[in-house]
Amino acid sequence: MNISRAAIIGTGTMGPGMGAVLGRAGIEAVLYDVSADALDRARSMVPMAEGVLEKLDAPQADGGSVRFESELPAALEGADIVMEAVPESLELKREIFREFEKHVSPEVILSSNTSGLPITKIAEACEHPERVVGMHWSNPPHLIPMIEVIPGESTDPTVVEASCDLIRLFGYHPVVEKEIPGFVENRVLYAIMRECLALVDEGIVDPEGLDLNVRWGIGYKLSVIGPMALLDMAGLDIYKAVGSYLNGALSTSSEVSSTIEERIAAGKLGMKTGSGMFDYTPEDIDRLRAERAAKFVAVRKALEA
Ligand SMILES: NC(=O)c1ccc[n+]([C@@H]2O[C@H](COP(=O)([O-])OP(=O)(O)OC[C@H]3O[C@@H](n4cnc5c(N)ncnc54)[C@H](O)[C@@H]3O)[C@@H](O)[C@H]2O)c1
Repeated sequence: MNISRAAIIGTGTMGPGMGAVLGRAGIEAVLYDVSADALDRARSMVPMAEGVLEKLDAPQADGGSVRFESELPAALEGADIVMEAVPESLELKREIFREFEKHVSPEVILSSNTSGLPITKIAEACEHPERVVGMHWSNPPHLIPMIEVIPGESTDPTVVEASCDLIRLFGYHPVVEKEIPGFVENRVLYAIMRECLALVDEGIVDPEGLDLNVRWGIGYKLSVIGPMALLDMAGLDIYKAVGSYLNGALSTSSEVSSTIEERIAAGKLGMKTGSGMFDYTPEDIDRLRAERAAKFVAVRKALEA
């Protein structure tokens, strides 16, 4: 399946970076949003993402472009793949997938960037559910080179293959998974978050100490060696010996942490309110954003070297 044109539907946090990645890799990307303001913001976000891709020396191919459309039929015209990135609502996604089918031929792939809604449920709204697939990019999409590919119950295996081929074309790593709530990336992240917050809730470590520990302990290590390879490095017998007394002591709470609940109740939602787990001045926020963007680029280049 030759994919040369992609329509990205929804240009909020995720769409612009996705468009920049595709455009640089030689795909004609068209960005559409129902909101004129969002589309306008995307016009300035795409060049920023392109600047980051340039710093990363990301794979580049001729023939690519990024275009903006304010009408859905024009955005979908001639698309080989549709990449949906509208808000996380099953009803909205089902509705918009039904709309896509009115404008594209049956062989066009319809992908969803859902963070964990069932692909099968989205596909059930379609006349051709076999061409529906989950393609879950990680945020920021122009920096994190891994995409989860999730077939629904009716997805044609050739659609999964074509999605993976496209992802490899722009130099990212596809990971094919079975459909499960939250998919793999968020399940692992939320398992880590639950334990981290339980340790902070119980006063075992303060938030600064927790971040230092995780960044320089498992964080640094896991960016070089994945958990399965780490088992081999440590020894499966060692994991068994520790896991047999430690697993039972880990948090299994299905409640959201009291630290989170208390801060939310106090209006502390994070950087966007100037305070969350930590406090931020506007200058701190600018400095941290710039520092983190530079580190993401440097670390990815080091890991790819
Ligand atoms: N933000 C993240 O960190 C992240 C990471 C991975 C996946 N996702 C997933 O990607 C999807 C998009 O997330 P986001 O954070 O970019 O959302 P967002 O709210 O920032 O942007 C969504 C955009 O979709 C537009 N939109 C709403 N209805 C529309 C319609 N009918 N047609 C076209 N555009 C429409 C909105 O105007 C908005 O600009 C969600 O499913 C989300 O779960 C988000």
